[in-house]
Amino acid sequence: MTDPWPALQDLAELPDGGWVTPSGPERANTRSAARIGSHFRGQKDGRNPYGCAMQRIITRHFGDTMVADRKLICETHPHLDFDLQRIIGKLVWSDWLTLGECCSKIDHICGVPLAPHVAEQLHRLSLIRGTQATTAIEGNTLSEEQVQGIHDGSLKLPPSQAYMQREVENIIVAHNRILQGLGQPENLSVDFIRDLNRQVLKDLGGLLEDHVVPGEFSTKPHGVANYRAPRPEFLEALSVRFVETFGQRHEAEMASNIIRAVLAHLYFVWIHPFGDGNGRTGRLIEHYILVHSGVPTPAAHLLVHHYNKTRSLYQAELRKASDTGEALGFIRYALGGFADGLRSHIEVIQQHQLDVAWRDYIHERCPHKTETDKRRIDLMLTLPVEWINRRDIPLLSARMGAHYGLGTGARSKAMTRDINKLRELKLVETSGRNRVRARREIMLACPRPRTYTS
Ligand SMILES: Nc1ncnc2c1ncn2[C@@H]1O[C@H](COP(=O)(O)OP(=O)(O)OP(=O)(O)O)[C@@H](O)[C@H]1O
Ligand SMILES: [Mg+2]
Repeated sequence: MTDPWPALQDLAELPDGGWVTPSGPERANTRSAARIGSHFRGQKDGRNPYGCAMQRIITRHFGDTMVADRKLICETHPHLDFDLQRIIGKLVWSDWLTLGECCSKIDHICGVPLAPHVAEQLHRLSLIRGTQATTAIEGNTLSEEQVQGIHDGSLKLPPSQAYMQREVENIIVAHNRILQGLGQPENLSVDFIRDLNRQVLKDLGGLLEDHVVPGEFSTKPHGVANYRAPRPEFLEALSVRFVETFGQRHEAEMASNIIRAVLAHLYFVWIHPFGDGNGRTGRLIEHYILVHSGVPTPAAHLLVHHYNKTRSLYQAELRKASDTGEALGFIRYALGGFADGLRSHIEVIQQHQLDVAWRDYIHERCPHKTETDKRRIDLMLTLPVEWINRRDIPLLSARMGAHYGLGTGARSKAMTRDINKLRELKLVETSGRNRVRARREIMLACPRPRTYTS
């Protein structure tokens, strides 16, 4: 079927003075009538060559009622053209480099082996961080530790702060709902988006303005800051168009799915269909698209973390995008933060892997028959990579204190013997009489080449 959207855009060319019924486009001025007609050329619908086709499309998008007045959609929100190719076509090589880096890092994360309890911890922590971040943008002041307490059920806030606890609980449930659909085809639908918003605003009645009904599109003209959302009668149609555009994975390409997720977030807050909770719902939709495109959840939470860390830039980029109708700046801002987040995430994962490999290597190199052997293994697994004074070793842990005696410090003979033995095995490095460190770097198979200066 002909893409109806250009036709709807051309409806904006209709004469001033208000409304046109579905049967009325032919009363438009000649130029716009010709353009509208051109969308339906070749369709013979009885007396009017394009009226019936137009009526079907208008009815599909706007219901049976009146449709376009030129002050709306195209004039006030020309950027809502849902033309992703137009936007993607503006990306330059440096944007593609960043996207390529994001894709390769995501691939890397997907293939990384981690002990189940470490992976579980990463998933939990990322959910907590993502939840804290998206509610913090909206003004919730709970810390990551408090959100963790709410998640684990160990924290109950006083009644005066109960609404913040509720906001956090709502987002945790919404995230879990997004994960429930994983493995099935994407099912982003208008109903699902309504459900997400209903969940985001659940039991927060006291915070909401009278006209706001969770999960229901706004019935009053509204907006955020200086931005005016499209008029209420267009919200349903725009939301249908939104899920048609963003709700399906068109390509297996990770790069295009990342762009799709970021643009969905931007388009959603541009449409701003609900009376409240649009930011949180938009960020959940972005998360939904990422995880349904195969981005592991800890990585998918990184974007919202970036928005929160750079909250004022987030608002400024949205403001710029809304003022100019230009999506590129927001995409660049989001991608830059995503790439940074992925780099740090990989460092965390590498650290975990290094711990495991180091532990294995120590057990391989050190005999572990006698109590002395076991003490040396303990020392190796406790010693930091950074230089440490021998007298501080007993303070590193209760076991170190028990092995070498608190207060004996550098005079412990057992410690001296252990360090000498471990130095022979090339597992520790010493400097002068007192300093010692673990040589963990021997585990890095391909370290970056050093730069030598003369
Ligand atoms: N100039 C702007 N143009 C479009 N969208 C904007 C603009 N400034 C902010 N936004 C978006 O609108 C959201 C605020 O809208 P709303 O109050 O409906 O959502 P919320 O979820 O309650 O709030 P928050 O997003 O702060 O959590 C912001 O979070 C942001 O995503
Ligand atoms: Mg709000």
